[in-house]
Amino acid sequence: MTYSRADYEQAAAVIRQRSDLKPAVGLVLGSGLGTLADTLDDRTVIAYDDIPGWPRSTVHGHSGQLVVGKLEGCPVVAQQGRAHFYEGYTAQQITFPIRVMKLLGVETVILTNAAGGLNTDYQVGDLMLLNDHINFVGMAGNNPLIGPNDESFGPRFLGMAQTYDRELRQKALSVAADAGITLHEGTYICLAGPNFETPAEIRMLRTIGGDAVGMSTVHEVLVARHAGMRVMAYSGITNVAIDSVDTELEASHEEVLDAGKVLVPRLSTILRGVLRSLV
Ligand code: HPA
Repeated sequence: MTYSRADYEQAAAVIRQRSDLKPAVGLVLGSGLGTLADTLDDRTVIAYDDIPGWPRSTVHGHSGQLVVGKLEGCPVVAQQGRAHFYEGYTAQQITFPIRVMKLLGVETVILTNAAGGLNTDYQVGDLMLLNDHINFVGMAGNNPLIGPNDESFGPRFLGMAQTYDRELRQKALSVAADAGITLHEGTYICLAGPNFETPAEIRMLRTIGGDAVGMSTVHEVLVARHAGMRVMAYSGITNVAIDSVDTELEASHEEVLDAGKVLVPRLSTILRGVLRSLV
């Protein structure tokens, strides 16, 4: 399924009808991290069902609504929950909201996800700022930019060396340091899911340079960069990857959601600090 520019325009028009605010920042809140949107000022809440073409998440921990409002005085549009490839959506469907954000005037997209820690220095509840990624889903042929290229959004061939905005990362690191919050920087590996990884897969992902592993974000990053938006992204480490078969341990969605509760205040402090510097 391929969308036309008119499909994105139609969704943007519905959002504009509901809120006069012109968002400069788009926030995508991952598993267990959606409550951050509840703290926006002057909020307008729009159910995904009310927006034509908008993909709905079927996953527990992702409420399906868009929140338009202000964070630290900065006009933002926040996705409380996202759709994933493993739910059966195409890469184009998952990234539909990013192009709608572009049409709303968003210049900076901030993405968050829950992820497993591959780096042995990482602990549950830590945050990792993405400075690079490995896109297994894309390498396997599921890339949202496959298909006819809409030049009105961006170029056919996209350079990826300047993906995670350096200036924004510097700001985030300095805000975190001032607040005494541990903020790692590292490489996120995107897999399709929905199963968690086997111990052999974890050891492979670590060997090839991954610091965190998850099932989202990278598709949205590609579409945002294609459209020339600045990108910043965070992994909340919700579980430590299990790298041995000789253990009773098992990964679960419950631990992912539990860790979200610790992560939200930390993420909120860092994002508020970065947004203050943007307005
Ligand atoms: N693996 C993949 N995705 C995840 C994980 C994980 O361990 N934790 C949260 N999302």
